[in-house]
Amino acid sequence: MSAVEQLGYLAAAVAFVLGLHLMNSPATARRGNLLSAAGMVLALVITAVRLARNTETMTGPVVLLAGVAVGAAGGALLARRVPMTGMPQLVSLFNAVGGGAAALVAVTEYVRLSPAIGAQTTVSALLDVVIGGVTFTGSLIAAGKLQGWVTGNPVLFPGRRAVSVGLVAIVVAGAVWVLITPNVPVLVVVIVAAAAFGVAMVLPIGGADMPVVISLLNAFTGTAVAMAGFVLNSVALIIAGALVGASGTILTKLMADAMNRSVIAVLVGGFGTGDGGPAAVGSADTSVRSVTAEDAAIQLAYARKVIVVPGYGLAAAQAQHELSALADLLTERGVDVCYAIHPVAGRMPGHMNVLLAEANVPYPMLKEMDEVNDEFAVTDVALVVGANDVTNPAARRPGNPVSGMPILNVDAARSVIVIKRSMGHGYAGIDNELYTAPATGMLFADAKSALADLTSSVRSLVG
Ligand code: TAP
Repeated sequence: MSAVEQLGYLAAAVAFVLGLHLMNSPATARRGNLLSAAGMVLALVITAVRLARNTETMTGPVVLLAGVAVGAAGGALLARRVPMTGMPQLVSLFNAVGGGAAALVAVTEYVRLSPAIGAQTTVSALLDVVIGGVTFTGSLIAAGKLQGWVTGNPVLFPGRRAVSVGLVAIVVAGAVWVLITPNVPVLVVVIVAAAAFGVAMVLPIGGADMPVVISLLNAFTGTAVAMAGFVLNSVALIIAGALVGASGTILTKLMADAMNRSVIAVLVGGFGTGDGGPAAVGSADTSVRSVTAEDAAIQLAYARKVIVVPGYGLAAAQAQHELSALADLLTERGVDVCYAIHPVAGRMPGHMNVLLAEANVPYPMLKEMDEVNDEFAVTDVALVVGANDVTNPAARRPGNPVSGMPILNVDAARSVIVIKRSMGHGYAGIDNELYTAPATGMLFADAKSALADLTSSVRSLVG
């Protein structure tokens, strides 16, 4: 590799690191994304030039450019077409593609170099195919669960632990075999067992635990890519993969902490697999107090302090602009308004932050769960918009799919207004006893129209 090519790869790696750093804040995240993408384009151009210089035919560069064209066109089309609410599934599919591609790279290199393959390359290739195989199938199942094609409930088949242990044993035994004597068919067996393990790992996870799994699979994708970098001896791939692997691991830890789970407990099915039955207090059709937009507007207009609790329904309704307009109107009236952000509200990490940033909600108005939870007790109105599981007091009791998950203390507010369309469940599939609490008024409507009605009612009240 020439010095210029090496410097080019170094510049690409620097762009990845700086891009990731810029993603720390919503204000600079867009620039960070563009910078990382520019780094990737640079790495691809250098690779194409290297291929053209080092091979006699143009087959390599043509195949590379064709692959880039197909991938870029597919990615751009998907990203443009998929609605905001479908982004988590798309991210999961990208994880699957990343893990699968990294595994294929290792298989190709292994087959090309075998049997004269060194131990170091074999170890990297093995780690790559195992992690990539698990990520590929696990992410496909996760995407299916998020899309509703696979049941979101835990799928618990008899003997699943024995099956998982058996698959791990096959992977370990096959890996040792391949390490001692290079053998392509045995490598294929290892890949199939790893892929089956990915399915067995993700199927039993349900309830509210999917955020932990999705970020873990993201970390796996990065690690598989880094391993592919070792197989190919590509510094750019190693750095890119390590960045994704490390940031994904940190995110997994943050998600697990936010859910009060241990990653191991989630993976072995210790949580999120509770009884799944209705909450103990209150039931769907008893003592629910329904309110109109006019009733709710009176409470909001004359409140001193309002905390808005956004959830997945806000994203589904795409009502962020209507919500921000209402909050602006209340703020103009002198009401103290802020947004309480639960770490797993919505369907992807940072979902609510991204959604509210789209509506230009000032970042200082967003408060993290730990920062805001004590404020509910001195709040006149908690306005819950399309949030359900993250407010469910059942989390404080054992034996259900949200048990142990820290929640927003909405029920401590003097008055609670919940905007949602029905008594329907959230992602965890259980009743929410907040809805039958005496201080709660349910405003049954689509969030977009309800928030627009609330704004016009507040306007007509206060002139
Ligand atoms: P959920 O508990 O999923 O509840 C969303 C609520 O929004 C539903 O009960 C639904 O009730 C309502 N809704 C849907 N469409 C609406 C619309 N157009 N207008 C008004 N309301 C609407 O949401 P949450 O409180 O944000 O909790 C997130 C859940 O997803 C947690 O269990 C979390 O573990 C899980 N999860 C999170 C992630 C990440 S990383 N954030 C990833 C995977 C899973 P109606 O049908 O009655 O309207």
